[in-house]
Amino acid sequence: MNILITGGAGYIGSHVLKALLERGNDSVTVIDNFYSGSKEALITLESVGKFEFIKCDLSDTFSLREIFKTHKFDAIIHFAAFIEVFESTVKPLKYYLNNTANAANLINLAIEYGVGKFIFSSTAATYGEPESGVVSEQSPQNPINPYGKSKLMTEWILKDAAAANPNFKYGILRYFNVAGASSDGLIGQNYPNATHLIKVATQTITGKRESMSVFGTDYATKDGTCVRDYIHIEDLASAHLSVLEYLSSNDSDIFNVGYGRGFSVFEVIETAKKVSGVDFKVINASRRDGDPAVLISNADKLKTKTNWKPKKDSLELIISSALEWEKKLK
Ligand code: UFG
Repeated sequence: MNILITGGAGYIGSHVLKALLERGNDSVTVIDNFYSGSKEALITLESVGKFEFIKCDLSDTFSLREIFKTHKFDAIIHFAAFIEVFESTVKPLKYYLNNTANAANLINLAIEYGVGKFIFSSTAATYGEPESGVVSEQSPQNPINPYGKSKLMTEWILKDAAAANPNFKYGILRYFNVAGASSDGLIGQNYPNATHLIKVATQTITGKRESMSVFGTDYATKDGTCVRDYIHIEDLASAHLSVLEYLSSNDSDIFNVGYGRGFSVFEVIETAKKVSGVDFKVINASRRDGDPAVLISNADKLKTKTNWKPKKDSLELIISSALEWEKKLK
């Protein structure tokens, strides 16, 4: 297949790129603007396989159209987006313009240029604050922050676009909390300003931060801290290949991508201390805006309808791979 990856230098995009290069069946074009993506990751991946890179910002509609004029894609895997829940509450337009408006333009080009498959990085944040905390693909979507809303709107755009264009199929992947790094140590989370829990914990273990905060200890959960479904980046990456294959003989569909179990912030911190042997400083802080108490996937659909087989369902493994990677970063 000829595949276009947007945001292929980013954390998730680069792991999916790596998985495609290792599979070796495809001709892959990557675009990225290096907002949070890593040039080093792309340089490293050149040793894994051949791909074309084009520097492009999705808001540059002229350059984007030129790419479609000069390439023929069978599939697009669309990662390029802003991803920080808290930032989206203070800069909502930043999220709507990139995650929704730029995505709409990309979908429009995909249809105009006859691209048959579109894999979209959506998020568990589209579910909002579910009553039971465990969500299936049919659960109501009531996002409580602009990030989740910006992604949900793109899901709607994809559904309407596919309904009106029979040759266009989408695979919507709703990610839960992705973390960790590639097990061969080649790539990982590079973005130094990342706010995600496991990244912050590994930065604290390696002395890049003096301490870390727990945002809220008064939630109605087992220990008062938020509960999330942490998934290893390599299992998340392989889900994209499974859904791409699924779309070859099936209609558009939506999949949760998680393991179907949750850990609290305190449990993650305890595991990080155990795995690293470092008793780092933790400060109990107030709640962070936009955080639901519990968000766990029911991921049965992905396991039963596609050939996806998770291989790294272990919090220790996720944290130790993230830590090994963090130690390598300057
Ligand atoms: N947290 C802390 N301290 C930190 C960082 C995070 O206590 O320094 C807490 C947060 O308050 C939250 C939990 O750890 O309760 C997880 O926070 P993350 O920032 O790691 O991740 P989020 O759950 O906010 O969001 C992530 C992705 C979203 C996705 C969501 C799905 O960024 O794209 O997981 O659950 F939608």
